Amino acid sequence: MTETLFTDISQLATPASGLQRGAAMRGLSVTENAALLVRDGVIAWTGQAADAPQAEQTISLGGRAVVPGLVDPHTHAVWAGDRLADWDAKLSGATYEEILARGGGIRSTMRATAAATVDELVALARPRLAALRCSGATTIEVKSGYGLDPEAELRMLRAVRELRREFDLSPTLLIHVPPETGRAEYVQEVCRHLIPQAAEMGLANAVDVFTEKEAFTVEETRALLEAAQSTGLHTKLHADQFHAIGGTELACELGALSVDHLEASGPEQIAALAASDTVATILPGVTLHLGLPAAPGRKLIDAGAAVAIGTDLNPGSSPLFSTQFALALGVRLCGLTPAEALTACTVNAAAALGLTDRGSLSKGQRADFCVLEGADWREVAYVLGGNVVAEVWCGGVRATAIRE
Ligand code: NIG
Ligand code: FE
Repeated sequence: MTETLFTDISQLATPASGLQRGAAMRGLSVTENAALLVRDGVIAWTGQAADAPQAEQTISLGGRAVVPGLVDPHTHAVWAGDRLADWDAKLSGATYEEILARGGGIRSTMRATAAATVDELVALARPRLAALRCSGATTIEVKSGYGLDPEAELRMLRAVRELRREFDLSPTLLIHVPPETGRAEYVQEVCRHLIPQAAEMGLANAVDVFTEKEAFTVEETRALLEAAQSTGLHTKLHADQFHAIGGTELACELGALSVDHLEASGPEQIAALAASDTVATILPGVTLHLGLPAAPGRKLIDAGAAVAIGTDLNPGSSPLFSTQFALALGVRLCGLTPAEALTACTVNAAAALGLTDRGSLSKGQRADFCVLEGADWREVAYVLGGNVVAEVWCGGVRATAIRE
């Protein structure tokens, strides 16, 4: 048994454990002059330092604030190639169609990713995941979805499996872009072979589908999600990014863990999410990078929904390498309060991955926490682009930072 008491915590700020919806997202507990007891990687006690129990070992955190480890519930951290020329062309006035016509856009990422080996994908993704962890993320979801064919999708998921030796990752099989011809056969092939294979090999915890006018229809999505559910995998959706075509309603009906994006969600989609246990995951990095409308975070919480925030780290729509920055953008762009944004990036983001054992600094939860640079927990939502997270601890063990 190993037992460590962390002392000299100016403020210990945490949501309660489990999914928090509506006004409960603001119900943070903040203990001043706190201490935290960790036993075998799990939180055994928290409270005022004056009441702390004895422990084998004591570590002073030097009068700094502590918040739960952040959970990033939506990333595409495995990709090859880059989209810098596309971005530059777009800034000079090229249209989306022009970029696609010269072979750019998402299909260029798919070609580069499909041509990479597992080892190459691992080497490309490692520093991205290290950057997210350095920003406070102790658990990170990573999607496939840039494979041109099922074998390339499995290679992406094998790269994620390799990286799980170094990071706490939740892998998702993303059915992202339909083929240019033979979509019906492709959907059938994915339902009959790729989804069951990914499930049997333990390569994915969930299946995600991009439901959009330019991607998969609601009917195709239903077939894919039902295939996922029949293999016991969780389900998630990219929906309402550009058009609300019914993906959110379908996800709520099927009990998906989360619906992500939601920039185009209106009153019906907000009501459907508020009436369900499906987490509404918003991705403010996309709003910042593409200059498109923000997801209605404020309205979702006011309606009673459970909101989470993710980076959506990807080369096309969100080159955002900081989970803490995503949290801070949720306040600036989506109208969340600092307390709501912390809840969105911890317990609710964990719920969006089907995880209930983390996200809160309370007894029985995994000892995943961030020590901030300063004494006030609100800096985690306030700072834009600074080094707000000083130390990251995963299961009671200090993660090595790339910044040291
Ligand atoms: O989550 N919406 C679709 N997919 C990604 C973008 C991927 C890309 O452009 O490479 C997203 O925004
Ligand atoms: Fe995404």
